[in-house]
Amino acid sequence: MEYGNAADLYHTGPGTLAGEYMRKFWQPVHRAKDLQRGQALGIRIMSEDFTLFRGDRGTPRLVGSRCAHRGTQLSIGWVEGDSIRCRYHGWRYNGEGQCVEQPLEERPAPERVCIRSYQVEEYLGLIFAYLGAEPAPPLRRFPDFDRPGYVEAGPPEYWPCNYMTRIDNDPRHVVFTHRESWKRMGDPVRPAGTRLLAEETEYGVRTYGEPVPGRPQRYTYFHMPNINQVRSPRIEGTLDDSRNLEADRLFWRVPIDDERCVNFVVDYIPLKPEEAEEYGRRREAAGEAKPAELNALGDAILAGRMRLEDLPADMSIYKLFWIEDYITQVGQGAPAGRPPEHLGSADMGVVLKRKIWERELRALANGEPLKQWYTPAGLAEAQGARVPIG
Ligand code: FES
Repeated sequence: MEYGNAADLYHTGPGTLAGEYMRKFWQPVHRAKDLQRGQALGIRIMSEDFTLFRGDRGTPRLVGSRCAHRGTQLSIGWVEGDSIRCRYHGWRYNGEGQCVEQPLEERPAPERVCIRSYQVEEYLGLIFAYLGAEPAPPLRRFPDFDRPGYVEAGPPEYWPCNYMTRIDNDPRHVVFTHRESWKRMGDPVRPAGTRLLAEETEYGVRTYGEPVPGRPQRYTYFHMPNINQVRSPRIEGTLDDSRNLEADRLFWRVPIDDERCVNFVVDYIPLKPEEAEEYGRRREAAGEAKPAELNALGDAILAGRMRLEDLPADMSIYKLFWIEDYITQVGQGAPAGRPPEHLGSADMGVVLKRKIWERELRALANGEPLKQWYTPAGLAEAQGARVPIG
């Protein structure tokens, strides 16, 4: 494959260089609790369509989108045991994509028919799949999120923007983008922070403000190729929860196609079992964010039909952050349609991430070794204590 365009990190469909690179890593494709036993769904990831289903025994399976007979979409069929039956003429496929039944054929030969299947694993409340060339690497673990505490996969954020737009969300934006959230939490004045530093690490990029003696040190982490990790007061629950708690949060920015992406979010809050139970109840009472409703509010603000400041006063900070991020990031528009950027010192981490991505794509195109990334334990622990609000 030719390495033609050093800047093309944005297209991930089959046959693209960035797509080939992304497929070397396991990607989350769905939230686990949103796929019931016996349910099948058609999903799209990196401009490819798939059939995701959960067998009667609870095992998630991922196979190609279409029946090998005459191409009907398999997700509209029936899950039977650990297999899926096509709704058109009843061909049945097991979880490995092998056809096992052709009920209308005079001389059935299902053993001669197979559709693609993919390795799938559940982890941290998400369903991960490996979509690249075999052999698959082991599924990457995040030791900080395997500790005892409150762990939850939040509602996936399906947004109409390129996945790189979400990856490029930088730590310095919080002062302005989330000004309304800070105000509602009783913390209206946020310092702009010291000089931003960014460095390449064994997992990707670490970005942080120049240390100031006596001030807690905070970091944002980027795990190659598409995972951001932060500590944030963006907490579902009550306003007091956002004033008192913080979550360590992983974001997987996964392309649906080149114009849309889904952000899978996993929260870790270091709570004891009884605290976690109580917090879980408050979180449930706040109601889970309804993505379509929040996106619609964001669209209304972008279209000038309402103001962010007019959102309900009792809206959780989790949901308010969602809309604040939505209007700034979706508001950037498609990468190709933007005016030229003017990157500055606040974009240090963005620049480094792009350079690393371009270096790895160049190596991939030239058949050179790729850097092997590794996520150690202790990244969350390195975060300094929270500055009290109020
Ligand atoms: S198209 Fe699926 S069985 Fe005919």
